[in-house]
Amino acid sequence: MSSLIISPSILSADFATLADECKRIVELGADWLHIDVMDGHFVPNLTIGAPVVQSLRKHSKAFFDCHLMVTNPQQWIKDFAKAGADMFTFHLEAIVDPQQLSSSQAHPAVVEAAQQVRAAGMQAGVALKPDTPAELLLPYLQQGLLDMVLVLTVQPGFGGQKFMADAVQKCAVLRQQFPELLIEVDGGITAETAVAAAEAGANVFVAGSAIFGAAEPAHVMQQMRQAYAAAARQPAAVPA
Ligand code: DX5
Ligand code: ZN
Repeated sequence: MSSLIISPSILSADFATLADECKRIVELGADWLHIDVMDGHFVPNLTIGAPVVQSLRKHSKAFFDCHLMVTNPQQWIKDFAKAGADMFTFHLEAIVDPQQLSSSQAHPAVVEAAQQVRAAGMQAGVALKPDTPAELLLPYLQQGLLDMVLVLTVQPGFGGQKFMADAVQKCAVLRQQFPELLIEVDGGITAETAVAAAEAGANVFVAGSAIFGAAEPAHVMQQMRQAYAAAARQPAAVPA
């Protein structure tokens, strides 16, 4: 079992002091920084774009885990690569309507987007909304086109929402077939819900409000590491 990566979402940080917040949270034990990019179209909220990533890059050497909740994500691949993004995770639903996808055949538009991300020098991630089945990613994972899958455990758009326990089962489906894959959970992750995420096989935890909103973020991250370590000692759960 690979080690846990904790990726605090800066969506819950104080945007007026973002560079300091990033520095602080990394010093307190964060492994990555999760950067939520929203365009007011794919999701009903507007956040930050490549210029902010570029500015932050001057203040931080951290791994920038960028989650693009935008329509037409390909439009931003070059800008994010230039800005210093490390992981570029786009939504499957932003490329093709999931109704048009199958679990046995790769769709050329998804293949192309993933290849463009890597060609630009970033790692390629694909995110799934809570209702999108994990099986739709099998053709791309089998071809080795993806570095990470992001499983949304809330509807994308806002921090501070309630964890959707059913969605986390997608991690188990993926983990069974891909022992080395980075599987990230995002939305409503706390020291408590991290237990179910870890047991399902997730190994990258995003948390915004639970970490930035805590009086002692280091303690919360420590509890998440304990939850992950405890899950590693359990026999692997076999999905039905
Ligand atoms: C939701 C975002 C999340 C969000 C998580 O659209 O993708 O990354 O910041 O926030 P919490 O951890 O507060 O649910
Ligand atoms: Zn996110």
